[in-house]
Amino acid sequence: MSNKILTKKALIPGQTSMLVLDCPQIAKKAKPGNFVILRIHEKGERIPLTIADTDKEAGTITIVYLVVGKSSALLETLNEGDTILDVCGPLGKPTHIEKSGTVICVGGGTGIAAMHHIAKGHHLAGNHVVAIVGARSKNMLLFCTELGFFCPELLIATDDGSSGHKGFVTDLLRERLEQDKDVAEVVAIGPVPMMEAVAKVTEPFGVKTTVSLNSIMVDGVGMCGACRCSVGGETKFACVDGPEFDGHEVDFNELKMRLTQYKEQEDLSMQMFRS
Ligand code: FES
Repeated sequence: MSNKILTKKALIPGQTSMLVLDCPQIAKKAKPGNFVILRIHEKGERIPLTIADTDKEAGTITIVYLVVGKSSALLETLNEGDTILDVCGPLGKPTHIEKSGTVICVGGGTGIAAMHHIAKGHHLAGNHVVAIVGARSKNMLLFCTELGFFCPELLIATDDGSSGHKGFVTDLLRERLEQDKDVAEVVAIGPVPMMEAVAKVTEPFGVKTTVSLNSIMVDGVGMCGACRCSVGGETKFACVDGPEFDGHEVDFNELKMRLTQYKEQEDLSMQMFRS
């Protein structure tokens, strides 16, 4: 296993990048919904990232990250040919995929990359996949070309109206659910407020709704408790019980609070890295 960066592509320059890594053992086993944890150096923070795609024959996995803190900024300094110290995975439970009919996959921001892998899995299982993607602006939309290859319906929402519907993914989702009463499942991956809003929209329709939680993680194997969340009144560990859960059961307020608990330290660490 080399963990070598074979391809690096700036999807949104300075903000979001894609890496194709040489990880044959992970590529062989990874399924949609799985994630990996990266460590760039011995004392480095562990970065959980959902796998956006795999190529089992080439032995590669694709990951997409947002440059948001010190560790992702450090990852951004690596280039093609460089090696990542550790890539641990595949972790988490894979997405439950079966032939069920129409599945709507909603993705926002970098979540679109992870959603792409799940949408592909549903397509390969014979489902009719409707992809709904959203971003602030046209140049921030990810994986639209790739989704277009296998999704018979690709609906786009941008905040500024530069592509598709001017507004939110939830507007398109509500419209689509009103037209079609036979949707088997809605899957949402993206910012927490987006996943929460998706779950609120689907609830009155009674549609099964799966969300993928981006909790803070340390070990990724259920030992540290960093990723704990409340689902249906029970404590769950996103790394081993998830990361996907029933969106109607997740305590999103607790998740939002836990995601910001180290904000001060994260900002300080980023300032020190930049200075
Ligand atoms: Fe440690 Fe989940 S990351 S228990």
